[in-house]
Amino acid sequence: MTVGVGVIGAGVISAQYLANLTTFPDLEVRFVADIDLERARARAEEFGIPASGTTEELLADDGIEIVVNLTLPAVHAEVDLAILAAGKHVWSEKPIATNAADARKVLDAAEAAGLRVAVAPDTVLGAGLQSAFRAIADGRIGAPQTATTMVLNPGPDRWHPAPEFLFQAGGGPLLDLGPYYLTTLVSVFGSVVRVSAVGSIARPVRTVESGPRAGTEFDVTVPTHSALLLEFEHGTSAQATFSFQSAIPRAGFFEITGTDGAIVLPDPNMFDGQSQLWTMAAWKGLTGPEQPTPETIEATGPADGRGLGVLELARAIAAGVPERASGALAAHVLDIMLAATRAAETGASVEVTSRVLAPEPLPADWDPKARTLA
Ligand SMILES: NC(=O)c1ccc[n+]([C@@H]2O[C@H](COP(=O)([O-])OP(=O)(O)OC[C@H]3O[C@@H](n4cnc5c(N)ncnc54)[C@H](O)[C@@H]3O)[C@@H](O)[C@H]2O)c1
Repeated sequence: MTVGVGVIGAGVISAQYLANLTTFPDLEVRFVADIDLERARARAEEFGIPASGTTEELLADDGIEIVVNLTLPAVHAEVDLAILAAGKHVWSEKPIATNAADARKVLDAAEAAGLRVAVAPDTVLGAGLQSAFRAIADGRIGAPQTATTMVLNPGPDRWHPAPEFLFQAGGGPLLDLGPYYLTTLVSVFGSVVRVSAVGSIARPVRTVESGPRAGTEFDVTVPTHSALLLEFEHGTSAQATFSFQSAIPRAGFFEITGTDGAIVLPDPNMFDGQSQLWTMAAWKGLTGPEQPTPETIEATGPADGRGLGVLELARAIAAGVPERASGALAAHVLDIMLAATRAAETGASVEVTSRVLAPEPLPADWDPKARTLA
């Protein structure tokens, strides 16, 4: 038996999702919807999906059990609520919502209906990060103590054909890229309890630089540079910098230091990539300028790309176990980002009260291409 899937939002990222979802034997993509019907039709045709149309038409298809919400952050919650009202499970792109009340509404509606809400990123389920998590769980760096992470680039106004949402409420590098980095941190360190932050806007007006609307100016209304200090529940800490205003591209700078070693993680916005392990033991006897060579940890496991989380959700529902990329985890990550926003505005550190448990790593032999649902 396959699980019927519908996709709402046929924009830029839908191509990556559909390229992967259509290769998983456990899933069957039945419908692509968008408010732009021509865009939905073209995407469906591109990937051989049998039907396209409006969200209402998609939600009326009884063969669809999971709906993948790839709309814009400002409407994620309202689209999720419509999906749940139609009796279907949700996979939503990040962030789960743009405010905590909307995230709560979505999680409460799911619980009341006995349905699931799972949320991107699913990169944390990919081979690269999962292999690093296994090394950490195996004690290779001792007890994790601190982390330093940053992602810098000139901004998506360079390549996205409709980049305005990435520079307005619900966007900025913090809400757009933060979920990858913060979900990874929470996966290793547990819940964040307090956040300090600063934020700034270098250029308050930007210009669409690619696609048919190139040359269109728009206002930047959220920080394009955010620097955070995070405190976790067990007394550990991390610093994280997110920028859409740097001429230096730095994707996925991510180091975690433990009592006995440190690990350089792969880019948390990717599904694969090696890690580098440095141990304190390797420094033993090195008293001069020489330094040890780090051990490379290869990525093992699935690295199929965006859509892995939808499959994991389908299999978790069938097995009656919790999904890993849970809505509760996404809501905690949103709480961290909103706390950082408030901390930057007020100059005071802000407490985060929600708590989550770190998800279990995926088994190394978890195979997206296997047919597992009888
Ligand atoms: N572009 C990327 O590289 C990327 C990567 C990872 C995640 N994401 C996330 O994916 C989501 C979509 O991003 P995108 O870049 O594809 O945006 P996009 O603007 O290219 O596409 C969004 C699509 O959603 C449709 N839409 C908007 N409101 C709708 C509604 N109420 N009902 C139905 N359709 C609606 C739009 O018509 C558009 O086709 C965002 O949450 C973004 O954060 C994007």
